[in-house]
Amino acid sequence: MKTYNLLVLCILSAALLSGCEAGLKRQAENLDSEIEKQIDEFLRKMTLEEKVGQMTQPGKHGEDGPSDIEDEVRKGKVGSFLNITDIKQRNHLQKIAVEQTRLGIPLIFAFDVIHGYRTIFPVPLAEATSWDIELIERTAEIAAKEARAAGIDWTFSPMIDIARDPRWGRIVEGAGEDPYLGSLIARAKVRGYQGNDYSDPERLAACLKHFAAYGAVQAGREYNTTEVSERVLRNVYLPPFKAGVKEGAATLMSGFNDLDGIPASGNSYILTDILRGEWGFDGFVVSDWRSVKQLIYHGQAKDEEAAGIIGASAGVDMEMVSRTYENLPRLVRQGKFPEEVIDQAVRRILRIKIRAGLFDNPYADEKLGASVMLHPEHLKIAREMVRSSMVLLKNKSNHLPLSKGVKSIALIGPLADSRKDMLGAWAGIGKETDVVTVLEGIEQTVGSDCAVHYAKGCDVLGDSKEDFAEAIEAAKQSEVVIMVMGESVKLNGEGHSRTSLDLPGVQRELIQEIYKTGKPVVVLLFTGRPLTINWVYENIPAILIAWHPGIQAGTGIADVIFGDYNPSGKLTVTFPRNVGQIPIYYNAKNTGRPPDANDRWTSKYIDVPWTPLIPFGYGLSYTVFEYSNLQIAKTKVVLDEPILIKVDVTNTGNRAGQEVVQLYIRDLVGSVTRPVKELKGFKKIFLNPGETKTVTFNLSQDNLKFYDRQMNFVVEPGEFKVWVGPNSAEGLESGFEIVE
Ligand code: GLC
Repeated sequence: MKTYNLLVLCILSAALLSGCEAGLKRQAENLDSEIEKQIDEFLRKMTLEEKVGQMTQPGKHGEDGPSDIEDEVRKGKVGSFLNITDIKQRNHLQKIAVEQTRLGIPLIFAFDVIHGYRTIFPVPLAEATSWDIELIERTAEIAAKEARAAGIDWTFSPMIDIARDPRWGRIVEGAGEDPYLGSLIARAKVRGYQGNDYSDPERLAACLKHFAAYGAVQAGREYNTTEVSERVLRNVYLPPFKAGVKEGAATLMSGFNDLDGIPASGNSYILTDILRGEWGFDGFVVSDWRSVKQLIYHGQAKDEEAAGIIGASAGVDMEMVSRTYENLPRLVRQGKFPEEVIDQAVRRILRIKIRAGLFDNPYADEKLGASVMLHPEHLKIAREMVRSSMVLLKNKSNHLPLSKGVKSIALIGPLADSRKDMLGAWAGIGKETDVVTVLEGIEQTVGSDCAVHYAKGCDVLGDSKEDFAEAIEAAKQSEVVIMVMGESVKLNGEGHSRTSLDLPGVQRELIQEIYKTGKPVVVLLFTGRPLTINWVYENIPAILIAWHPGIQAGTGIADVIFGDYNPSGKLTVTFPRNVGQIPIYYNAKNTGRPPDANDRWTSKYIDVPWTPLIPFGYGLSYTVFEYSNLQIAKTKVVLDEPILIKVDVTNTGNRAGQEVVQLYIRDLVGSVTRPVKELKGFKKIFLNPGETKTVTFNLSQDNLKFYDRQMNFVVEPGEFKVWVGPNSAEGLESGFEIVE
């Protein structure tokens, strides 16, 4: 049995014998003290170069350093690698580290396992729209199992940046615009990846990224400056990180962005004062790709030496790819840099390596892979997540679901037969050959009795309309048209900000031409961000968002289109009417002149309504849910007293389905201005036709805390409004008061 676990067993059994809570706590502290003693021993023996070696994470090609990565390892100059996905190469490098270096400290191998490893799930923004916390945890658990079987120990995930600007390509990677939902998803992902013990051969060490506020890039321009006040930082962007740290995340990654004049990767206030000082985080922080060296370009460091000093001193323990930390041993010898800072970084790194079980089991099991990858259970969960993450935006006159008895379908659009685009951004080693396309999924569902006329119609990008005629002909020959439109994967993710959110190329024109045929049209939208689909939303009777749904795209989508699954997804990002409205998000401030359609001199525009095209939390079903009987048990409560809220939800339609019942509050008056709405609870319920359920929320006042005028995290007495409903723009209203 592993030394570390044996230790745990002895300590815990001793505690059980003592049979007291305090005993368990004390024993756990002893366990930690055992680990710390082990680390002390290493620190005593390590040279400065070996210590800085632990703080160094080259890419797989040894970028920015010697290309002979084996020799680098042998010299003890490497602590970790990223992007090594060949398990044999991984074990070979590990063997050098363990058997051919002076101290035998194992490497930790990292990779971006963002939404699956080989079983690629829907992109994170899609997963979030399922509002299914258990399912989100389950997909992370599967990702961990597959990645670990490939020799990965540590994932650079979850990405938990709150994003309110869909021009930013990385909005696809996170959970959207809401801190409450984002915090729950952060915790679920950490649990899924790490379980209770990430030394388990089916778990991964997690990495909360990008710390912090990268999603606030100005104008949605990639890598741009972020000007975020401390109050907005604490009330909006930090909550998911605080939640992830509380859940026990092993590591964080510092961001690229300049944060209020101090780049995140050189910012001791967030990396030390908040992360360690306030939150007690005891893992380590890895930089983003060259983000320490980039302190030079920010203008925070004059050269690499200064960048290394700033990054290490701020609390970035491991440097990804760039090599500024290689100056540190000399600087220590020159008395220009304290060795204690290096020791502290190395201690954190070794602590996580020990917890990850790398000292007990440094080698990955090369036999596991085949039996784990794409396991039928994994594909089943992937298909379930595709279904759960689809959002029904419109279904006028119940065009959907289609009958499986339909005799002819025109399947039109540049994404109908695409494999790569289904994988989505950050699909890692995901394989196109594993994808079930929309065309395949539909053909498998309707079988040979139905003629499926496929026509691409146009490209994703470009202005050629030469294929329009073929598509129009396909539509004319068919009973119904399904148009598979939207963004390709090339338009999403890191380095893919857009100044326009319109459907790319001539896609809208194609939809308009097909619409003119008079055939019933369903638009299936693939995207990694909100799009300004105004004409489509106003004219097309049935619209489903499928995001970029991963390898089970065709099966999950067909399930929804033909009614084997009733869509239940709800948007976690606001869809604007145009780019001019951005940033637009539901939990905004009221202003001193709240928008009033009848008063020119209020906060709004003269050319478009101030409201979004489609609000946060929105999503329809093939059935109808009605809300009634909202009750607040006590409308006056004292501080810390929970508020009991009940509502009845009835399925008044003729089809069973799920509804995400959402609870919003508004703190009417505060020492600082408060948002007009804040999500503070939700429950995803299943209702058969005619069934009514009473949904209960036991709202803890901890959930109402915010950073006040003095930056204290408090609840302030006063009046609150409450809404419970199907999205952030509708719902039954009531209220309560917190009295001193
Ligand atoms: C990238 C991303 C980061 C990723 C890292 C390693 O630039 O910003 O999210 O984990 O590099 O691939």
